[in-house]
Amino acid sequence: MGMTMSIRLAAALLLFAGTGLAGAQEVLIAQGESVFRTCAGCHAVGSGARNKVGPQLNNLVGRTAGTAGDYRYSAAMTAAGGAGLVWTEKSLAAWLKGPRRYVNGTKMSFPGLRSDDDIAAVIAYLKSFDSDGLPPPDASSYEPR
Ligand code: HEC
Repeated sequence: MGMTMSIRLAAALLLFAGTGLAGAQEVLIAQGESVFRTCAGCHAVGSGARNKVGPQLNNLVGRTAGTAGDYRYSAAMTAAGGAGLVWTEKSLAAWLKGPRRYVNGTKMSFPGLRSDDDIAAVIAYLKSFDSDGLPPPDASSYEPR
């Protein structure tokens, strides 16, 4: 019994410490959620996200460009993926700064985001969704029993 209590207490303290450390990241993600309003007319992300005018954006970081299922990409985006373009924080930042410059011939009719802060925030927000549109499991979700 005493043992159980101390494990619980340790877990609570770990969670508490984790929350403090995660604070800055959570602020960035919240900022990204509001930046995403400029994308949301064309893109869905999160649980149950479907393709709209643009492809759904779950599990985006690490995904090869032009590969969301059941979405009809431009020839330019399909070719970019075929040539090896993978969405990373770096490639996404370049894409979001100037989509038409980055993938010449894309059908994403969006001029791009001017602010590097907005770009970093929206990438952090998108990174917070896994393939099912749920937060990816991480160390802070580990609960000792
Ligand atoms: C006016 C509609 C529109 C808006 C607004 C828009 N997009 Fe797109 N987006 C598209 C379309 C259409 C494509 C497909 C491009 C292609 O096939 O060339 C696309 C493609 C993408 C891709 C590539 C996905 C893949 O599967 O390879 C990413 C990433 C993306 N958009 C992110 C964003 C983000 C983030 C925003 C907001 C900052 C945004 N888009 C705003 C229409 C839009």
